[in-house]
Amino acid sequence: MPDAPDFAALTSAQQRAWSEGDFSMVGSLVVNASESLVEALEILPDERILDVACGSGNGAIAAARRAWGNTVGADFVPALLDRARERAAAERLEIEFVEADAQELPFESASFDVALSIFGAMFAPDQERTAAELLRVVRSGGRIGMANWTPDGALTDFFAILMRHTGGPPPGTVPPVLWGGEERVRELFGDGITELRVERRVSRQAFRSADHYLEFFRAYFGPLRTAFEKVGPAGAPALEADLRAYLEGASTDPRALVLEPEYLQVVATRA
Ligand SMILES: C[S@@+](CC[C@H](N)C(=O)[O-])C[C@H]1O[C@@H](n2cnc3c(N)ncnc32)[C@H](O)[C@@H]1O
Repeated sequence: MPDAPDFAALTSAQQRAWSEGDFSMVGSLVVNASESLVEALEILPDERILDVACGSGNGAIAAARRAWGNTVGADFVPALLDRARERAAAERLEIEFVEADAQELPFESASFDVALSIFGAMFAPDQERTAAELLRVVRSGGRIGMANWTPDGALTDFFAILMRHTGGPPPGTVPPVLWGGEERVRELFGDGITELRVERRVSRQAFRSADHYLEFFRAYFGPLRTAFEKVGPAGAPALEADLRAYLEGASTDPRALVLEPEYLQVVATRA
């Protein structure tokens, strides 16, 4: 049997990658998806909400507006939590931001009415453990909400290019985008949930051109910065050429570079 992946080492490497650049700049592209998920969760005043892998706080901020505070955001990148605190303070929202790994949440069992994660928990390498943690922290009858890129959506090609140029996926791991398939979500949550509602949606992202996209993502998106560091100057032209071909092929509008990657919006009821 192959050795189990070293999840601790993978998580540390991912923590370093997400710490590069400034994801809060990229996070503005998914504000819409965050608002949509939080609406679908039908949050009530004073419910206690957890946003897992919250980044600069999109989900937590959207949730706290509906719960009238009472919200916690957790992420393993301290600089993103600082950005989230700045944003919450600007809106006078009561949100606590806590440094934590999605696979080992520092919260009591059944201590939240709702746990949600927007393109966040899906990236943790140990999917079974992440699902177990989301289930553990939510009370019976509470809800779990996720936004997950789909396996057949445009972003799968983007991540596949990064993997191909940086030596392939770590042995024994499965792709994060599996979380974007209903069957995998059912498998991971198992009998921990009583109901599952899923909806395929798109997240529209408009840039002036492929150059504009690459310049922006190379400045702010940690996983892309890390990929360019790994390939070094010798590998950079080939990586850039593949990304440019992907972007130009995926654009849905001849007037600009418009991506419409698909994602699965998930609302599950905790058993
Ligand atoms: C694509 S960003 C999404 C951020 C945020 N949810 C949003 O909607 O803007 C992915 C986030 O997941 C966080 N993340 C990835 N793996 C994590 C883990 N194992 N534990 C905690 N946070 C994690 C990253 O630090 C990053 O902030």
